[in-house]
Amino acid sequence: MASILVTCYSRTGKTRILADSIGKGAKEVAGVEVDVLQFNRVTASDLVRYDGVILGSPVYFGGVAAELKEFIDSTTFVRGKLSGKIGAAFTTSGDRTGGKETAILSIVQAMLIHGMVVVGDPISPESKNEEHNGGHYGLAADGQLTEADLRHAEYFGRYVATIVARMFN
Ligand SMILES: Cc1cc2nc3c(=O)[nH]c(=O)nc-3n(C[C@H](O)[C@H](O)[C@H](O)COP(=O)(O)O)c2cc1C
Repeated sequence: MASILVTCYSRTGKTRILADSIGKGAKEVAGVEVDVLQFNRVTASDLVRYDGVILGSPVYFGGVAAELKEFIDSTTFVRGKLSGKIGAAFTTSGDRTGGKETAILSIVQAMLIHGMVVVGDPISPESKNEEHNGGHYGLAADGQLTEADLRHAEYFGRYVATIVARMFN
């Protein structure tokens, strides 16, 4: 059975809500086990056990939170062991133009350096007519989370999980 870890740093809970919705969507996909774990319970060596890793952070000054960066830096100890796994990223910001893409890209950059295969957030046929249409490089939401944001996060979880199931079962 293929497996996915969803985790994120979250200080005030918004990014964590997205993580839960991503996990909910991913769990709907047959053939994939999904763990949505508290950030402080995850170590770099845990990542090695999963076929897919979906990692999130709030935007802090246009980048990721220092806590998430510290976690990314700790993955240097598992360098070479994440190669070929699926990776995907998500973020929340306060402002509409708050730096979501730069934050996502810094997570994706680390994944690529590990040799992971990164999955983006394409325009979903399910949410085509909604306000949330796909965050391009990863899942992104700003301001107060809406029902559309959560529906799209579930779609994103299903999308990534479908690819993990196809590649690892
Ligand atoms: C230190 C700090 C820096 C922040 N920098 C930005 C920023 O550059 N752009 C932005 O839109 N929001 C910024 N925010 C707001 C957070 O990104 C936003 O509230 C986020 O959704 C919080 O996520 P959380 O509830 O998971 O902690 C910042 C917040 C903090 C505490």
